[in-house]
Amino acid sequence: MIADRCIVVIPTYDEVDNLELVVDRIRACVPRSDVLVVDDASPDGTGELADKLQAHDPQVHVLHRAAKEGLGAAYLAGFAWALERGYDVIIEMDADGSHLPEQLPRLLEALPGVDLVLGSRWVPGGRVVNWPRRRELLSRGGNLYTRLALGLPLSDATAGFRAFRRHTLEGIDLATVTSQGYCFQVELARRTVEAGHRVVEVPITFVERQAGNSKMTGEIVREALVRVSQWGLEHRISQARTFLTRSRVPQR
Ligand code: GDD
Ligand code: MN
Repeated sequence: MIADRCIVVIPTYDEVDNLELVVDRIRACVPRSDVLVVDDASPDGTGELADKLQAHDPQVHVLHRAAKEGLGAAYLAGFAWALERGYDVIIEMDADGSHLPEQLPRLLEALPGVDLVLGSRWVPGGRVVNWPRRRELLSRGGNLYTRLALGLPLSDATAGFRAFRRHTLEGIDLATVTSQGYCFQVELARRTVEAGHRVVEVPITFVERQAGNSKMTGEIVREALVRVSQWGLEHRISQARTFLTRSRVPQR
């Protein structure tokens, strides 16, 4: 386990006031882990800052992308980069300090024997700090809807602090993932569960950012609502098919 090669993938868009502190804290809390910053040509100079961090630390890497294409596309590019280079454990984490690097060891400790660890706000022991009431309701409501529509046994399917094993990502056909915004997280969680992989949730403390702005938009919410509803319908149809096939009287 300790010999596993580990990398934290951090997507960034305009996070110049947050990135350095987060990278420093990750390097201090889990020194054996590398870091990959995936920047979408942030106008505020986040990409240049990432280059500077890389120049001072061989365990920090940067992937520059040409334009802002959403969280999903950034993560897919980061995962491909990490898989090509043979990493065994691939971690997702936000750049804005909402996910505490100090809780990374907790995620990694839960990984033996499972395929995906979710850092979860909505399990006992999990909490959010300074999150606007509106965002909390959206997340709780979105997760409830997701659980009911998809039958997913997860409390925080949109969580963005998670640790995948390499074989988990290899087993869910990333080439066909199309979510652009935050419903990327739901799509990956759903694929992981449906592929029969073992998922555990560990409680985390999510702290609202102190600098910069959230990139959440109405379009991101809309995409999530439409897609989760679509997947929910497909889920019910396939359940009905299975039921009908099983209940058919065998013919001679
Ligand atoms: N490269 C890239 N491109 N990065 C992006 C993009 C993009 O288009 N959009 C967002 N990011 C980065 C941000 O810079 C940040 O590091 C991280 O993705 C999360 O974005 P935030 O804008 O801070 O998200 P949030 O705080 O509103 O949302 C949180 O809750 C969501 C819902 O539960 C995050 O934890 C999300 O991961 C989570 O899905
Ligand atoms: Mn955030």
